[in-house]
Amino acid sequence: MTIIDARTPADRTSKHLSVTQHPTRTARTRHYVMCTPSHFAVEYAINPWMDPTIPVDSVRATQQWDVLRRAYLSLGHRVDVIAPVPGQPDMVFAANGGITVGGRSYGAKFRHPQREAEAQAFTDFLRAEGHDVVEPVHVNEGEGDFLALSTMILAGTGFRTSIEAHVEAAEALDRPVVSLRLVDPRFYHLDTALAVLDDGGGDAPADIAYYPGAFSPHSRRTLRDLFPDAVQVSEMDALVLGLNAVSDGLNIVLPAAAIELAETLKARGYVPVPVELGELLKSGGSVKCCTMELHA
Ligand code: ARG
Repeated sequence: MTIIDARTPADRTSKHLSVTQHPTRTARTRHYVMCTPSHFAVEYAINPWMDPTIPVDSVRATQQWDVLRRAYLSLGHRVDVIAPVPGQPDMVFAANGGITVGGRSYGAKFRHPQREAEAQAFTDFLRAEGHDVVEPVHVNEGEGDFLALSTMILAGTGFRTSIEAHVEAAEALDRPVVSLRLVDPRFYHLDTALAVLDDGGGDAPADIAYYPGAFSPHSRRTLRDLFPDAVQVSEMDALVLGLNAVSDGLNIVLPAAAIELAETLKARGYVPVPVELGELLKSGGSVKCCTMELHA
């Protein structure tokens, strides 16, 4: 649902719901982990976005990645950088390295052998940061398919993460997990089809955006029941990976091409922060894929 909002930016600090038509949005300082794209390339095709015959400009990829890193820093967030492992061209997509909530981490186990070796590197990194990491038995690709809200975890399955991993994650993180089935191979990870706009951990209620076409009929129903006021995104915005966004509760960093979504977010009281990650899109990833959040 789009809320028409003719407020000026100054009005956005207003706490009066009757005027704003949406809750006051508040940023919370976040802790992110990113991985330098020093070895980034498209050498194999494990999702429909990847075409190894299309060249990647690695200098440009690194510049774009660094703009994203600096955007987080300028918003006041902490960004730790994990060292890339040679021979792991997809390791820049740090979201896939695990999920951490409240000091508990659930490690990744990649679906495709090409990415298998990344799991240990992320686990070692998280342990060195003092996190207790549960090593998974079941295939799961971390925050690619697990999106944390304050009271539950939304979990994707269908292409990468196995349904068994949803139960394993619930036990490991001690949070309820809501399983959602992805049905469109272009949206192969949950974070390509659904964005957490507000995790519900502050004063405002949890808020999400999603592309309904990426989900099975039952999962669409689940999303409608749980989030009746969610933003439903057009296929056009979904196809530029507009939902592969990162929110701090107020500022939402998202792919610059998602123009309509940015307008919708503004009308809901958020501040869109567009970034251009065209080189990383050639591998089927964007903002969120490059960002692992260590949730408090
Ligand atoms: N080329 C990577 C893969 O197919 C992209 C991963 C994107 N990550 C994400 N969190 N959606 O695995």
